[in-house]
Amino acid sequence: MKPSARILFLTMLALGMTVAGYSTGGSAQTPGPAAGSNADLKAAYATPQDIAEGKRVAEASCASCHGIDGISKAKDTPHIAGQRPGYLYTELRVYQSGGRGNTTMNNGVKFLSDDALVKVSAYYASLDSAPPASLSAKASAARPDPVAAGKAAAAGCGGCHGETGISKVPGMPSLVGLDPKYFVAAVNAYKNNQRKHDMMKTLVSALSEGELNNIALYYAMQKPAKAQTPAPGNQALGKTAAAACSGCHGEGGVSTGTAASLAGQDAQYFASAMKEYKSGSRTDQAMKAPAASVDETVVKNMAAYYANQTPQPPKVRKPLTTAEMAQRCDRCHGVDGNSTDPRSPAIAAQRAEYLEKVLRAYRKGERKSTAMAAMLDGLSDADIEGLASHYSRQKARTVVYVSLPPAK
Ligand code: HEC
Ligand code: HEC
Ligand code: HEC
Ligand code: HEC
Repeated sequence: MKPSARILFLTMLALGMTVAGYSTGGSAQTPGPAAGSNADLKAAYATPQDIAEGKRVAEASCASCHGIDGISKAKDTPHIAGQRPGYLYTELRVYQSGGRGNTTMNNGVKFLSDDALVKVSAYYASLDSAPPASLSAKASAARPDPVAAGKAAAAGCGGCHGETGISKVPGMPSLVGLDPKYFVAAVNAYKNNQRKHDMMKTLVSALSEGELNNIALYYAMQKPAKAQTPAPGNQALGKTAAAACSGCHGEGGVSTGTAASLAGQDAQYFASAMKEYKSGSRTDQAMKAPAASVDETVVKNMAAYYANQTPQPPKVRKPLTTAEMAQRCDRCHGVDGNSTDPRSPAIAAQRAEYLEKVLRAYRKGERKSTAMAAMLDGLSDADIEGLASHYSRQKARTVVYVSLPPAK
C-alpha cells in the first residue's frame, strides 16, 4: 500500500478541536465540541514525511506492546494496524485524559504531543490490517438459530406430543401455546421429581438447560391449534364452571401469567391433571383449592370447554442469531465491521478477546459511549462471545475515499 496517497487526515483534530456531535469516549474530562462551532471532520493527506515521523514515535512508544506492524500478540491488546485514523487519534486523546480508565495505555501516551498523536495515528492507519482469525478459533461461540436447534432437540418428543406440539393422542398434552417459562418449569419439575412421572423424567433427564430453552422456544413459535383428540362433555356447563378459573388461566384458557394455558388442551390430559391435583400426587399451592372444589362431571365438562377454545401463540420474541445482531452493528461499523466513517472503529479482524473485553466494558458502563451502551442493553454473555467471534473472523478492508473536483 502507498500510504501517502491513501491516508486522509483530520486537520481540525490536529488543531486540537473535537468533532461536533461525536463523543470521544464520553469521559467527563474530554472536551466537548466548541460551543457554537460547526467543527466537523476535514480531510487532509498525511505526507510520507508525516508517516515516517509517526513510525519513529511508534518505535519509541508503542511497538513494545502493539508491534511495529500494529498486530498485537497479547490477548488484551488490540490490533491497531489499518484502523481508521480519526478513530485512532480520538482514542489516544481519550486515553490521555483518562477517559478509558486506568489502562497500560495511559502511560504510553501521557507525554506525547498532539502532533505526535496525529502522526502515529497516520502511521498505524497506513499499515495492512491483521488477517481474520481462523474459522476454527472460537467459531463455535457463534449462536445458531435457537428455533432450528430446538426443533432438532425436540425430534424425540413429536411421537407423543405431535410434531409441532399439537397432540393427536388422547392423554398426551399439547405443547403448543405454552409460555416457555411454564414449559421449562414443567420439564424441570419432572427432572427433580416435583412432578412424579417416571416416563417423562427419563425422557427429559438428558436435556441440558440450553437444549430445554431452545425446545420451549421452538414449541412457542409453532402455530397453535386445538388438540386433535376427542373431548366429550357439556361445553356450555363447562364454560360456566370455568369462570372460577379464568382469573389465573385467562379468558378462554389463554393465560398471560404463570399458570398454564389451557385453551385447546387435550381433554383426557386435562382430566388426569385435575385428578392428580385432587389426590395430591401433583402438588401446586395455587391448584389445591380449585381442584378440590370440582367433581368428575364438572371436570369432564370443563375439559370439553377448554379443549374447544382456540389456543394463542405466547408472547415471545425470537432471540436474534449472531448474524442478525451483527446486521444491526454493521449500520454504524460498516459491512462486516469495516467502518467507512473515519470516526467509527473498524472491528473486522480485531482480536476476539479484546472485542469481548470492550463489549463487556460498554455493557457495565466502564467504557462510556451512549451509542454502544444502547446497543448492548439486554445482550447476554453468549451474545457478546458470538459477536466477538463473528467480527474477529471478518476480513478487514481499507476505506476508499473518492476525491471530487470542487463544486462550481
Ligand atoms: C504497555 C503497553 C502499551 C503501550 C506502550 C501502548 N499501548 Fe496502546 N493499548 C494497550 C492496551 C493493553 C490497550 C487496550 C486498553 C483498553 O482496553 O482500553 C491499548 C489500546 C490502544 C488503542 C485503542 C484501540 C481501540 O481499538 O480502541 C489505541 C488506538 C492504541 N492503544 C494506540 C497506541 C499507540 C499509538 C501507542 C504509542 C503511542 C500505544 N498504544 C502504546 C497497550 C499499550
Ligand atoms: C412416550 C411419550 C412421550 C414422549 C416421547 C415425550 N413425552 Fe412429554 N409427556 C408425555 C405424557 C404422558 C405427559 C403427561 C405427564 C403427566 O401427567 O404429568 C407429558 C408431559 C409433558 C409436559 C408437561 C405439559 C404440561 O402441560 O404441563 C412437557 C412440557 C413435556 N411432556 C415435554 C416433553 C419433551 C420436551 C419431550 C421430548 C424431549 C417429551 N415431552 C417427550 C409423554 C411423552
Ligand atoms: C390461583 C390461580 C389458579 C386458579 C384459580 C386455577 N389455577 Fe389451574 N393452575 C394454576 C397454576 C399456577 C398451574 C401450574 C401448576 C403446575 O405447574 O403444576 C395450574 C395448572 C393447571 C392445570 C394443569 C395444566 C397443564 O398443562 O399441566 C390444569 C388442568 C388446571 N390448572 C385447571 C384449572 C381449573 C379447571 C381451574 C378452575 C376450577 C383452575 N385451574 C384454577 C393456577 C390456578
Ligand atoms: C449507533 C452506532 C453504533 C452501533 C449501532 C454500534 N456501534 Fe459499536 N461503536 C460505535 C461508536 C461511535 C464507537 C466508538 C465509541 C467510543 O469511543 O468508545 C463504537 C465502538 C465499538 C467497539 C470498540 C472498538 C474498539 O476498537 O475498541 C466495539 C467492539 C463495537 N463498537 C462493537 C459493536 C457491536 C458488536 C455492535 C452491535 C451489537 C455495535 N458496536 C453497534 C457506534 C455504534
